[in-house]
Amino acid sequence: MDRSPGEISGRARVFAVFGCPVEHSRSPVMHNAAIRALDLDAVYVPFKVEPQRLPEAILAMRALGMAGVNLTIPLKEIGLGLVDRLSSEARRIGAVNTLWWDDNILVGHSTDGEGFWRSLEALEGNLLRKALVLGAGGSSRAVCFALADHGVRVSVANRTVEKGQKIASEIMEALPHAQASAVSMEADDLRSAARHSDLIVNCTSVGMIPKTGETPLPPDCISSHHVVYDLVYNPLETRLLREARDRGARALNGVDMLVHQGALSFELWTGMTPPLDIMKEAVRGTL
Ligand code: ATR
Repeated sequence: MDRSPGEISGRARVFAVFGCPVEHSRSPVMHNAAIRALDLDAVYVPFKVEPQRLPEAILAMRALGMAGVNLTIPLKEIGLGLVDRLSSEARRIGAVNTLWWDDNILVGHSTDGEGFWRSLEALEGNLLRKALVLGAGGSSRAVCFALADHGVRVSVANRTVEKGQKIASEIMEALPHAQASAVSMEADDLRSAARHSDLIVNCTSVGMIPKTGETPLPPDCISSHHVVYDLVYNPLETRLLREARDRGARALNGVDMLVHQGALSFELWTGMTPPLDIMKEAVRGTL
């Protein structure tokens, strides 16, 4: 049957993001932009799913024959126990952001770590040896493992130091040649860890709208040799990034990671490489 460009036919593949809340998700805009650019017979929709109803929502995904699903806050950890198979990446970071079908097997995977690394690879001329990672939640785990996988030494700074220590020791256990440690969020500890690092990544929510006046790092920790990467993308330029730029450092916001982790999900679902620039523009247009 002929299909005109942009048409959603009776054969359309349905993709979705499940989250709670989900209204802030940029994934529908980003994925639908890629679907349009490639003129796929598909659509990507948001569903608000309460955590306790995720098992039902995944049964619905199976019953409805949905082609792929992203999980976002606070469902990424709950999703671990609800799939037929977990990827080794999902298992080690303890989170699932992508559900995809391998034949009829529902696989839970996380594209966050590789998405982060791919967005860093786009940086030319930066040989990274050591990173200071702020925060020890879910996104920090993905970032820390991705860095350690690629031979970057990691210091995890967190308000609750034990959580940073847990990530560091799990990395050392999983990757025998990796070097990882934990530090507190005290200014002196941050200064010392930053001095020995070439990359600083903010994986906390500090600085995100509406509290845009806050920063997780005293500005004097930053110097011009640093790459400062804030996973926050709303606002596009956080206080941390503004201070990094003022100090001559290279500043990166969270849009790139968002786009790369989304592109990796899209590749798993469709086998196609989506247009990153178009996805990025679509996200930026919402900010
Ligand atoms: P995500 O999935 O985005 O990583 P998360 O798992 O809730 O979110 O983790 C949030 C991280 O931001 C945690 O490391 C948290 O520190 P604690 O473990 O001590 O709670 C950190 N964080 C949140 N608000 C913070 C604040 N005001 N100051 C410092 N750290 C903060």
